[in-house]
Amino acid sequence: MKIKFKILLLVIVTAFVASSCKYDWIIPEEVPDRDPDQEISFSQEILPIFNSGNNCTACHNGSQIPDLREENAFGSLNSTRYINKTSPEESKIFAYPHPDGGHYKKYTLTQANLVLAWIQQGAKNN
Ligand code: HEC
Repeated sequence: MKIKFKILLLVIVTAFVASSCKYDWIIPEEVPDRDPDQEISFSQEILPIFNSGNNCTACHNGSQIPDLREENAFGSLNSTRYINKTSPEESKIFAYPHPDGGHYKKYTLTQANLVLAWIQQGAKNN
């Protein structure tokens, strides 16, 4: 083999080995930065967490409390059982499905943070 060819081969093998070492299967969740003063919209940002892909409404559809269907979600959640405006982190609708919470169905961290921020902003029907 000519030396040039050997070098080329070495480069190709090195590139292959290096690229195969990316730990693609451990995908860290990206938590986007948000301006804390930007108001969270219940209808635009919180409801889709419950409804899209039947994420929560697969079960919370009237037979299981809280009813998280679009037309009923705010009414079901607007109670001290689920929302604690004095200590938002203790709100059941935030803490129970939190990634560290007790529910077997969990929010992503981004979703949990949105729910918490919405409660901190007064849990408005906006
Ligand atoms: C596969 C069905 C299922 C899915 C999907 C599901 N839940 Fe639940 N959830 C339940 C059941 C059953 C209970 C009651 C038993 C318990 O407390 O774990 C419950 C309880 C809860 C409670 C406590 C209710 C109370 O009054 O004590 C909250 C809050 C809750 N779920 C929120 C959610 C949210 C938010 C989602 C979506 C991220 C979700 N759940 C997805 C089945 C589900």
